[in-house]
Amino acid sequence: MSKLLIANWKSHKTISAAQNWCAEFLRECPSTEQTVILTPSYTLLSAVQEAIQDTFLLLGAQDVSPYPQGAYTGAISADQLSDLGVQYVIVGHSERRQHFHETSADVARKITQAISVGLTPVVCVDMPYADEQLSLLSAAELAKCVIAYEPLESIGNGNAMDVGTVKNAVVHLHTLAPETPVLYGGSVDPESVAEYCLVTDGVLVGTASLEAATFAKLVNALQLH
Ligand code: PGA
Repeated sequence: MSKLLIANWKSHKTISAAQNWCAEFLRECPSTEQTVILTPSYTLLSAVQEAIQDTFLLLGAQDVSPYPQGAYTGAISADQLSDLGVQYVIVGHSERRQHFHETSADVARKITQAISVGLTPVVCVDMPYADEQLSLLSAAELAKCVIAYEPLESIGNGNAMDVGTVKNAVVHLHTLAPETPVLYGGSVDPESVAEYCLVTDGVLVGTASLEAATFAKLVNALQLH
């Protein structure tokens, strides 16, 4: 079955770097059976959309306003993202909780906004607040989300969580959201992606997505399995 592979560039890259990334990635990985989503910064969305049109790559964003269009200076609303060709949006990443003090209630409002315009929210959770976060969503909302299990201690440091723990987390999350795909995120690389995809519906990749060649290797590694 097709896996969801999400590249989270975080607050990296200029427009030209993003364009070069897309060209190099598509040279190294011209086709795949997987669903591959790029989530660049807002400032790069248009350029990336243009660079990936007519390819298998899909566009995502890293955040969305908890409000609709209106007097919310600095916020980007869900329909503004949709208008740019965005189909997925990451919400509740631990970096947003840590540096921008987002709460589970904030994240729930973002999910409602995203779903209202047909975006698929990629809801990042860790234990133990996963239960609190998911309890704020209706069953209908949960069915329209993707969940990413993102243990804080494994993000951005090379200390990926062991596969057994990820498997247990997926089982737990499926008790709360039986129909929702569950991804793993935290130091996934081209060598480890296949084993995580045995126990999940895909992966959310930060560091190993920054270089096009590395992310192409990661996608291609999965195709061999
Ligand atoms: P990482 O980031 O792959 O660099 O650990 C993952 C994430 O933050 O989603």
